[in-house]
Amino acid sequence: MELIRLDTVDSTNEYVKRLGMQGAAHGTAVTAAVQTGGKGRLGRSFASPEGGIYLSVLLRPDCAPDRLFSLTPSAAVAVCQALEQECGISPDIKWPNDLLLGGGKLCGILTEAVTCGSGFFAVLGIGLNVNTDIAALPPELRRQAVSVQSVTGRQTDCEALCAAILCRVEQMYCAWCADEKAYLPRYREKCVSIGRQALILRGNEAVPCRTLCINDDFSLKAELDGGRIENISFGEVSLR
Ligand code: BTN
Repeated sequence: MELIRLDTVDSTNEYVKRLGMQGAAHGTAVTAAVQTGGKGRLGRSFASPEGGIYLSVLLRPDCAPDRLFSLTPSAAVAVCQALEQECGISPDIKWPNDLLLGGGKLCGILTEAVTCGSGFFAVLGIGLNVNTDIAALPPELRRQAVSVQSVTGRQTDCEALCAAILCRVEQMYCAWCADEKAYLPRYREKCVSIGRQALILRGNEAVPCRTLCINDDFSLKAELDGGRIENISFGEVSLR
């Protein structure tokens, strides 16, 4: 994978999209020390001060775009593996693809599909709080966010961690191309969103439920009050 290192960028996902539109190769990766317009899931912004890893990878999968759903949770497993290897920590996964450490949010992942001519490409974006000073995050995020340093008290070599993430993502992608459920067992082991009272958040609605299991397609099976079963493949579930 070719890695382009930037000091500051609007969003590494947006930068990789621009490269992708110009025909950049599968595997092109971009990291930035700071993002001024970091993007999160569901149209949110992603605070990206210095100390974190902001990494996006261009992928040109040979499949239909609707298969991409399983790629992001699989990437969450790959990032956990890199963190175990480089930092000796074992984060949990909150469905669908947040990494938690000690209950606080450590990492978010955003995959975007971009139509290009008659085909498409995907941008896998990873935002990880590594040596991030929690005080540098917006006040509303400080209570729920953690960084590797804020939990372990240790500084991490971001370059080495980034290289490990790229390596694990590459391994995951090879496995995923052969079998999109390849990382499902590992995902289920790490996912802490099961057997919990939760709220399904949809627009202004918050629907109470009990989470039951991760389905074979990585969607979340939940039982609503009254016993109705729902399989959730989009949006947000808040654990209670
Ligand atoms: C989320 O938690 O909602 C997903 C956050 C994804 C953030 C990463 S940082 C690198 C890449 N560039 C972006 O603008 N977003 C992703």
